[in-house]
Amino acid sequence: MNIYTLIIWLYFTIFIIDAAPITSKSNSISLKKIAPKHSLKEVHQFYKDYFILKYQNIHVTDQDKLASDKKILSGSENLTISDILGYYGEITLGSQEFKMVFDLGSSDLWVPSQDCTQDSCVSHKRFNESLSKTFNSTGTPFSVAYGAGSVTGITGKDNVLVGGLKSEGQEFGLVQEEVGSLFQEAEYDGIFGMGFNDLSSIGTPTPFSNMVEQKAVTNPYFGIYLQRSNDTGHTGTLTLGDIDTTKFTGNLNYNNVSTLHREYLYWILDVDDISINGNKLNFKNKLATFDTGANIILMPEEDAATYHKFINGSSLNEYGIYTVPCNTMDQVAYIIGGVSYNIDQSDLVTESDCSSSVQAGSIGDDNMWLIGDAFLRNVYSVYNIKNFTIGLAPVSK
Ligand SMILES: *[C@@H]1O[C@H](CO)[C@@H](O)[C@H](O)[C@H]1NC(C)=O
Ligand SMILES: *[C@@H]1O[C@H](CO)[C@@H](O)[C@H](O)[C@H]1NC(C)=O
Ligand SMILES: *[C@@H]1O[C@H](CO)[C@@H](O)[C@H](O)[C@H]1NC(C)=O
Ligand SMILES: *[C@@H]1O[C@H](CO)[C@@H](O)[C@H](O)[C@H]1NC(C)=O
Ligand SMILES: *[C@@H]1O[C@H](CO)[C@@H](O)[C@H](O)[C@H]1NC(C)=O
Ligand SMILES: *[C@@H]1O[C@H](CO)[C@@H](O)[C@H](O)[C@H]1NC(C)=O
Ligand SMILES: *[C@@H]1O[C@H](CO)[C@@H](O)[C@H](O)[C@H]1NC(C)=O
Repeated sequence: MNIYTLIIWLYFTIFIIDAAPITSKSNSISLKKIAPKHSLKEVHQFYKDYFILKYQNIHVTDQDKLASDKKILSGSENLTISDILGYYGEITLGSQEFKMVFDLGSSDLWVPSQDCTQDSCVSHKRFNESLSKTFNSTGTPFSVAYGAGSVTGITGKDNVLVGGLKSEGQEFGLVQEEVGSLFQEAEYDGIFGMGFNDLSSIGTPTPFSNMVEQKAVTNPYFGIYLQRSNDTGHTGTLTLGDIDTTKFTGNLNYNNVSTLHREYLYWILDVDDISINGNKLNFKNKLATFDTGANIILMPEEDAATYHKFINGSSLNEYGIYTVPCNTMDQVAYIIGGVSYNIDQSDLVTESDCSSSVQAGSIGDDNMWLIGDAFLRNVYSVYNIKNFTIGLAPVSK
């Protein structure tokens, strides 16, 4: 894994367009057509059926029915760690299957189009419009930039299935050109953005946001569990519309998400401080963008230097990369919302070359850090798109 690929990836999407409003369908029943042609008895029956339908939730007495009405609509998706970046899982787009990276740091859904004949597209699954009966063309040009890598194409609409849940008529990007070598080697075909709607370059609500509006899920949040190894055959779980309580200990601690330029875009939290071997580093006013699409943690130079001063045996090599002893035993904890979250020692180093999982890199603001999977593997995290919170709890051991 090339550190520069990593850093480049982290430069995020640069186009910011307001999300289109969602219009919700309402069922209306026309009474005029029925009344003149039917007997009073039939009309009464019709009204009775109508009110039973309308007030179903209030009038149910049957216990089984009650239980099924209360059932939480949710779905879950197995995730696999990628050799390149992040964690990926399968989705179905208009009956065609794709492997997607679930990325907190962007808000667009795209897959390669059959019209793209570049190597990076041909080596992946491509969307064939004529094989989908539900596809609708919109033909709006779009472009999403991830720093050195970018994708361009046109948009279309189709149904998306994730973890058994549907986002109907989801607008997504059909990529005709991929610029940069970022995607060529990737195990995944496309990206499934899970940031806030206002971050979307396409300017459309995210699939999860659509599921909430379309009532495909009961709760407006999703939970993420990232496992360290793949011993059990899968290395993470994304739960949409519910929380997987088997994955953490104690209670979730809720933190308010911070805005950027007064808008909710990324999943940003205030970080109180970091402690290493019991010493507080005295960081002040630091913000962190949570990003499942990044493997490491990035801090501006000064903060990365402070951090490594406390890491036993760390050094900065000639390429400007921090290294730490491969078997480091330091006790690192991130303090967020007054709660300490311990980092497993294996997450202090990157597996491949024992470089530190914390590196220097600016993501645009002196106080902003980027918190990737090296932190996120240590917590169960819950992202609420309606009340703008992230719930955190230490993962079960
Ligand atoms: C996810 O993984 C679990 C545990 O390995 C397995 O039981 C389940 O069938 C998997 N689900 C899917 C959709 O592959
Ligand atoms: C797309 O599907 C159509 C209909 O089955 C087929 O004729 C065409 O060859 C496919 N295109 C590609 C690029 O596979
Ligand atoms: C495609 O458009 C038709 C006609 O407007 C509509 O009925 C259908 O729901 C649309 N399909 C999707 C997936 O948006
Ligand atoms: C999962 O583990 C096996 C055995 O250690 C390894 O061969 C395989 O490459 C791993 N898969 C991933 C996606 O890491
Ligand atoms: C979080 O936001 C809620 C609602 O806006 C507010 O009531 C609460 O005080 C905030 N909590 C903190 C710790 O700022
Ligand atoms: C730092 O590393 C040295 C050499 O490996 C070791 O002797 C010492 O105990 C370590 N200190 C801490 C605080 O872990
Ligand atoms: C946000 O929603 C979660 C889950 O429903 C709830 O536990 C939490 O208290 C809410 N927080 C605020 C600030 O409304």
